[in-house]
Amino acid sequence: MHKLMLAAAALTGLMTALQAAAQFAKPEDAIKYRKAAFTVMGSHFGRIGAMVNGRVPFDAKAAETNIEIATTMSKLPYVAFIEGTDKGETRAKPEIWSEMDKFRTAASTMQDEMAKLNAATKTGNLDAIKAQFGKVGQSCKACHDNYRKE
Ligand code: HEC
Repeated sequence: MHKLMLAAAALTGLMTALQAAAQFAKPEDAIKYRKAAFTVMGSHFGRIGAMVNGRVPFDAKAAETNIEIATTMSKLPYVAFIEGTDKGETRAKPEIWSEMDKFRTAASTMQDEMAKLNAATKTGNLDAIKAQFGKVGQSCKACHDNYRKE
């Protein structure tokens, strides 16, 4: 009985440790996942940027479609910064893991700014969209400057 309980406790501990990594079979998978999420987010965010910069005509409906995708994608990359994914095909700096709290704060700042851009986009007011687009861009840059290699 006692042995069984110990075995059960050991198993529970193991499962907890595995949970964080459970989404990804290999570290490379986590790296691929977060890069893909950043790429899709960046692409749809960039389409709004093209309207903000006047490179393409403003289209309120298209802006809404793009910001919905960018908002969803903005929530995805950060679960993939798990232990062991600081090397390989990645530009992530090792500081991410030694300053995880600051990194997470930078991530949630960007997510908040993106949510505000989403709200601004729904108003259809290009000036409001422009102003908030700039704030999101700053939040991307702030994190890249600190935590992404050139
Ligand atoms: C909290 C930090 C953080 C924020 C905020 C952030 N990024 Fe990044 N981004 C990274 C890191 C770290 C990488 C490198 C990932 C890797 O190579 O594993 C990256 C990589 C990328 C890439 C390249 C993906 C690839 O295929 O190599 C793009 C594009 C990108 N980010 C766009 C953006 C945009 C656009 C924003 C703002 C809307 C943004 N990021 C906000 C940390 C951040």
